[in-house]
Amino acid sequence: MYDDINLDNIDLTADPPKDEPARQHYFMAKARRSVRSLSETAGRPLTFHVETFGCQMNARDSEKLTGILAAAGYVPSDTEDADLVVYNTCTVRENANRKVYGRLGRLKRLKADNPYMRIALCGCMTQESQVVDRLREDYRFVDLVFGTHNIFQLAELICRMLETDAMVVEVWEGTDQVVEDLPARRKYPFKSGVNIMFGCNNFCSYCIVPYVRGRERSRSPQAIIDEIKSLVADGVVEVMLLGQNVNSYGKTLKQPISFAQLLSQICQIPGLERVRFMTSHPKDLSDELIQVMADSDKICRHLHLPVQSGSTRILEKMNRRYTKESYLALAEKIKKAMPDLALTTDIIVGFPGETEEDLAHTLDVVQQVRYSSAFTFQYSKRSGTPAAAMEDQVPAEVVQERFDRLLDTVQTIAREECARWEGTTGSVLVEQINHQDPSLLTGRLGNNLLVHFPGDPRLIGKIVDVRLDACKGFYYMGEMI
Ligand code: 5AD
Ligand code: SF4
Repeated sequence: MYDDINLDNIDLTADPPKDEPARQHYFMAKARRSVRSLSETAGRPLTFHVETFGCQMNARDSEKLTGILAAAGYVPSDTEDADLVVYNTCTVRENANRKVYGRLGRLKRLKADNPYMRIALCGCMTQESQVVDRLREDYRFVDLVFGTHNIFQLAELICRMLETDAMVVEVWEGTDQVVEDLPARRKYPFKSGVNIMFGCNNFCSYCIVPYVRGRERSRSPQAIIDEIKSLVADGVVEVMLLGQNVNSYGKTLKQPISFAQLLSQICQIPGLERVRFMTSHPKDLSDELIQVMADSDKICRHLHLPVQSGSTRILEKMNRRYTKESYLALAEKIKKAMPDLALTTDIIVGFPGETEEDLAHTLDVVQQVRYSSAFTFQYSKRSGTPAAAMEDQVPAEVVQERFDRLLDTVQTIAREECARWEGTTGSVLVEQINHQDPSLLTGRLGNNLLVHFPGDPRLIGKIVDVRLDACKGFYYMGEMI
């Protein structure tokens, strides 16, 4: 494991090893030497700041980036006023890209005042060649650009960046490599994301993820279990298993294993109290998984099951490979097996060719399934995806109006679903001191609802029983019992 490696014992006079992860350990040691010498010249420690855009995958990737940068001797900073700023970007919707370009302008001004400052960009945006072209032309002050498959190489790339004034660009188009045994620094001591697979093979017609994250690759069950065991030994009580489509976990391994089997094995890890996972594709969700969930008191009663649209006609154009009816039947089956389970979803409004009738089907699904919450998105045209070339794109004002109606329905139902639990008692993982009222703690129920209640900050990281006294829309006020 990484924790057993002493970077200071690595011989930097030798050539870098060819194999991973030894090669990256070598470059961490080398980067550490360079950062130390720069700090001496600057007369202060060199700082870094990682800014995360997008999903939980990116959040976990940022913990890995942070782990590598800390190993390289940089000191964390809460602000962008740092010596190395890394933007871990998202490109799932156009807005996400615009935000990053806007923020880069601000970084340029900070860099003008700090001769040590370096700027790095990684994540999904950098996998798009037109983005890299634009950076090369209009954002030449960016020092390092690397892709989603190159995160494990950060230490090596830092060494290259510190040796040149030119922009260093390393973006692989794809990989079948999964490099283990690299450091990570968790945001929360008591809970952690754990990647179980990378990439996506589904090619939903609107989605850029399969192009920027590559083909599906599963980690070995042993590597996952070892990682979780060492997280538990380090104080973690809850893990969130991460993959674009966890239900197809294991299919490409030499010794295939189902996601449900993996989950059963994970649930046996002593000391681990809660298991979550996301995201589930409805087309692959098996009866075996429902059974394993229903039988387990460690697996949280929450399932994120993106529907995207309620119209079978649109679902077909989206290449989702299920129908309105089969989705509804699946949701019904899950709720029957676990009546206390919270279902959440993602919905896109304004997919090309969407009509009023299609939206009526989506609203109908929301009303029948009764989601505890839903992320609603306006369709965003991503170049290179099949949907971007489809005719009859829906005008922006029509999309907006439909979006408002959908949100209204989603929120009304989410409020009613939240209120269902008033007066009951639930186990809550205490996460932090309440931001608004420091006499309160904030924690999360298994079904993902937040609860605020009076308590001692020493309970952070513990699981306690809380009575849910008053529903305040989407969260509760409660009392520990
Ligand atoms: N436009 C709008 N929403 C999108 N999503 C993915 N691609 C697009 C797009 N082009 C949404 C889907 C997915 C979530 C992560 O982002 O709902 O489930
Ligand atoms: Fe995108 Fe579909 Fe893959 Fe999810 S399953 S990442 S929406 S292509």
